[in-house]
Amino acid sequence: MKTREIIRLEVTESTNSTGLELGERGAVPGTVVVARAQTLGRGRLSRFWLSRPGMGLYFSLILRPELEPEDLSKITLAAGLAVAKAVEELYRIEPKIKWPNDLLLNGRKFGGILTETGSVSHLPEAQNPLVVVGVGLNLFPPAGGFPAELQQHATALSRHVEGEIDAEALLQTCVGAIEKEVRRLEGGEFAAILAEWTKRDAVYGKTLSWITRQGQAVTGVALGPDAEGLLRIRDGEGKIHSVLSGDLTLIAKFSGKAK
Ligand code: BTN
Repeated sequence: MKTREIIRLEVTESTNSTGLELGERGAVPGTVVVARAQTLGRGRLSRFWLSRPGMGLYFSLILRPELEPEDLSKITLAAGLAVAKAVEELYRIEPKIKWPNDLLLNGRKFGGILTETGSVSHLPEAQNPLVVVGVGLNLFPPAGGFPAELQQHATALSRHVEGEIDAEALLQTCVGAIEKEVRRLEGGEFAAILAEWTKRDAVYGKTLSWITRQGQAVTGVALGPDAEGLLRIRDGEGKIHSVLSGDLTLIAKFSGKAK
């Protein structure tokens, strides 16, 4: 069996930045960068990802998938499914996924995925695009608890799992699972991936609001991803919107419970 290179760092700005640099310099696909802490860990929509030492698992997997540029965004959904399945396999708990890639336990986020690509414009013909899949998982709450702005929304795996959390086993299982789902994607199995993803959809049928690219706030009901992975939302007038990216906020209904 081929041994994988795992670059282990005490601290780095962002394992995604390190992964992109190494990938551009020719790192073998399948190489992983993992850090005990990040000083500038980043999430979607340029958000900061809290990455203190001893608190979480922060890694990036370097890939050169055999996919067309327009299909690269599907990796995010495939990777979210992979990490959810890895957690299910190891801990017998069932995370939900909030589109596109927030991993939730009991409605609170314990993990996120940030997929980034290297430059695709100057790719030599024979080369597949560089993709880095960055995964951040809160394993334990930070000493003193989550900062005030995260308290209502964040959780850590340790709050939902009995017994030890073996970060190394989690790393290996997640990496293997991501590669497996990406191979399925390369093999044209996105519909099957979506079917599995949909079983874990945290927001299907729920009312949410999001900000359109034109900066307009719209409220509607989530109908799950379409065949391309874009989120479908039906607004109050029955119009279906396909959301490519953005921030989704669940709306508590007057008669229902806040989720
Ligand atoms: C999100 O939920 O917005 C995605 C968070 C992704 C965080 C991980 S931690 C490892 C990797 N390096 C980063 O800077 N970000 C990702």
